[in-house]
Order: sequence, then structure tokens, then C-alpha cells
Amino acid sequence: MSIHCQLLILILALTLDGQVHTGEVIGGREAVPHSRPYMVLLEQRMPSGNKKNCGGFLLNEDFVMTAAHCQASSYTVILGVHNVYSSNGIQRSSVVQTFPHKDYDETDLSNDIMLLKLSSKANFSTNVQPIALAGQGDGSLPKSCIVSGWGRTDKHIKHMSLVLMEANVTISTECEKEKSYCTEGETGPGNGDSGGPLVCEDGKAYGVVSSGYLNKYSYAKIPDYRSWIDLIMN
Ligand SMILES: *[C@@H]1O[C@H](CO)[C@@H](O)[C@H](O)[C@H]1NC(C)=O
Ligand SMILES: *[C@@H]1O[C@H](CO)[C@@H](O)[C@H](O)[C@H]1NC(C)=O
Repeated sequence: MSIHCQLLILILALTLDGQVHTGEVIGGREAVPHSRPYMVLLEQRMPSGNKKNCGGFLLNEDFVMTAAHCQASSYTVILGVHNVYSSNGIQRSSVVQTFPHKDYDETDLSNDIMLLKLSSKANFSTNVQPIALAGQGDGSLPKSCIVSGWGRTDKHIKHMSLVLMEANVTISTECEKEKSYCTEGETGPGNGDSGGPLVCEDGKAYGVVSSGYLNKYSYAKIPDYRSWIDLIMN
């Protein structure tokens, strides 16, 4: 194992421990309220009793997609949120069944994708709508995409963002790994935005926010998981 690889694993391990989910949409802006009605705020209750947050996105009335590293003892899925302090029009559901990818590897965060089945069906409204997933046919590399989430917006603030933030990112072929997309640059998601979607020009979800390290951000590549996803959802 190379030194670089060990270092990466160490950093990921540190990130997975207490510090998790304290990232940020770096270089982002506030999203137009409810312009991304598929966005899910995921509240996780950890085995220790602590609460954490991840992002996620609504696929249909029964299923939400998120990252496998967002696994917890129990979850509350919150739909229709913009400002986390406003309960106007939001819907909450617990999770009846979880489907982390069976090949998820927490040491290198490969296959960092998970489906959650809601215990109460989502009721679609102007603020709550599903997003379509990119398929294997959406082959040509999408370039301009947007990530969104409630992760921290400043390294010096300890709490999450109170409103949904978003940022433009460009998919790069320079840092590709198997079954993942990557983006580079100062702007991108942080760990607080884990599990949120990478949405590209055609409005479909192409990736799931997985990790960020040294201005490189990695996303589970949804087109490569379509048969797994379709099997569970059908
Ligand atoms: C959707 O509406 C039904 C009927 O009012 C309700 O029982 C259910 O809890 C709602 N779902 C959510 C996620 O709030
Ligand atoms: C972000 O991307 C959208 C299109 O996806 C574009 O209209 C907008 O101008 C971009 N914003 C910035 C700040 O680059």
C-alpha cells in the first residue's frame, strides 16, 4: 500500500469518526427556496445516541437515495425543507428498511450508495417531488452539474447551514475512479452534504455525494448502479 493510500485512509477514518458531517457546500449560494423539491434532510440517530445529518433525495413515494456511509441506528427523513427551522409544509417519515450496497467498503468508500424505504409514503406537492435518475444510456459525460445540501458553509461555524445551499461543479475525467464521478476545485460539497445528489444539465441525478479530500470530490456514479437500484425498487 502506498503512503498516499494510507494517508487517504487515515483521513477518511478521521472523517468517519466524530468529525463527520461537518463539511460544507464550499463556495456555494442559497438555493431558491423549494427549487429542489427532491432534496431530503436526513436526521440520523447514532448508536451513541448522538444525532447527525446527511442529505438524500427522493426517488418515488417510497424510496430515498443517500450514501452508505450515512448509516445509523435509526433515521428521520424530512421532505419539503428549505429553512431547517420552518416546519411549514414539511413531511416526516421514519425508515422501515435500509439497503446499503453490499459491496460498500468503509475504508475506501467504494460503492457508497444506499436506498432507504420510507415507512409513510411521501405525498407529492409543489415542495415534495421525486427526481429522475440518470441511466446507463445517459452515457456521454455530463459536465455542468450542481450539488446541494445543508452542510456547514464556513469552517469556523460548528452548526449546519440553516438553509439549503447549492454550488456549481464540473465533472472531470482527471480524477475518475471505478464506478464514481469526481469534481475538482475550491467549490464543492463537504461531508455535511454527504448523500445529496449531483444533478446535471438534464435535471437528472448522476451521482451521490460521497467524499471530499484536497479539493477533489467523489460521487457514487448512479448509471453504474441502475440494475441494483431497479431490482430493489421493483
Ligand atoms: C401522507 O399523507 C398520509 C395521509 O394524510 C399520511 O398518513 C402520511 O403520513 C403522509 N406522509 C408523510 C411522509 O408525511
Ligand atoms: C451555475 O450553473 C447554471 C446552469 O447549470 C448556470 O445557469 C449558472 O450561471 C451557473 N452559476 C454560476 C455562478 O456559475
